[in-house]
Amino acid sequence: MASTVLTGIKPTGTPHLGNFVGAIKPALALAGTASNALYFVADFHALNAIHDAQKLQSLVHEVAATWLALGLDPEKVIFYRQSDVPEIFELSWILSCFTAKGLMNRAHAYKAAVAKNMESRAGASGAAGVEDSDDLDAGINMGLYGYPVLMAADILLFKTNVVPVGKDQVQHIEIARDIAQRFNAIYGPTLVLPEARISAETAVIPGLDGRKMSKSYDNTIALFLPPEKLRKTIFKYKTDSSPPSEPKDPNTSPLFHLYREFATPEEAEALRGRYQSGIGWGEAKEAVFDVLNRALEEPRRRYADLMANPARVDALLLEGAQRARALASPTLHEVRRAVGAR
Ligand code: ADP
Ligand code: TRP
Repeated sequence: MASTVLTGIKPTGTPHLGNFVGAIKPALALAGTASNALYFVADFHALNAIHDAQKLQSLVHEVAATWLALGLDPEKVIFYRQSDVPEIFELSWILSCFTAKGLMNRAHAYKAAVAKNMESRAGASGAAGVEDSDDLDAGINMGLYGYPVLMAADILLFKTNVVPVGKDQVQHIEIARDIAQRFNAIYGPTLVLPEARISAETAVIPGLDGRKMSKSYDNTIALFLPPEKLRKTIFKYKTDSSPPSEPKDPNTSPLFHLYREFATPEEAEALRGRYQSGIGWGEAKEAVFDVLNRALEEPRRRYADLMANPARVDALLLEGAQRARALASPTLHEVRRAVGAR
């Protein structure tokens, strides 16, 4: 049994069905098996990109209300806003003094930003080549560059054992392990090495165009659309022009994939049968709408209640932060003493 499970949620967009199936659902299930679960809204991670106070505020509310509406129980999970826990930022500085700059140069997000600059530079001059480093770092702030250190602080501050994340975040967990190892090598065993827990590949939800549902592809279904809007959006799923009577392969159908995530096993078997004997795409879409709407009805109501009462969401997050700070404090003191602070 994992003892401490922790994950951060970056408030950068309206959560969609893919986020629910691939991240929220498994993280909530995992929380139930841990003796300590800490889930938080990583608002200061978002700050490297969102420089609009109101927007950041409302994204924090949206994301927090989404998790609460979908079943996060703040009694069982310590649920907080990162910026309410100053211990994280102190640890982040300390850790940065043990982080090789070269390690940050190799971080995916930074490399991608540099590559983008390289591309646009090459496009502008008509030739790729060695550029001066100022140009390649254009538009990149230290928040983006040091992002992995802050994430390591999020994790290491709570002696986390398991971090449920998407595949794209694995490098960050490895960096956190690296930093912890380096620290421990100097001061003796102080920090716990975390492990990533990646949700199954089968949980990748296809978007309206059949590719992975992602806000970067603009093919998502937002979680809390009103029923009629949800139905209309599901009807936008791309399908072929085969007639209703023609047998269809459920295994390659994004609609079937989605259905299976929300239906009972018996319902899924029944729809599989209908695919095999021929089903109209309209009927398949209607079936998807029915199970989705059934699953989302109650959370949608809870979400609307929470969004109508942001002060309540804030109060819940603040309570969580107090509990998180109480847990964090001994570790931070241990680290401070280890390095020679008081
Ligand atoms: P997006 O691709 O829309 O930008 P994020 O990168 O913010 O989504 O993803 C947040 C979490 O949701 C990650 O853990 C990721 O693995 C999960 N996730 C995102 N899209 C999907 C999807 N289509 N299917 C399953 N999980 C997904
Ligand atoms: N970087 C993560 C993401 O983009 C969010 C995050 C911040 C996080 N701190 C974390 C995830 C700590 C796990 C643990 O999705």
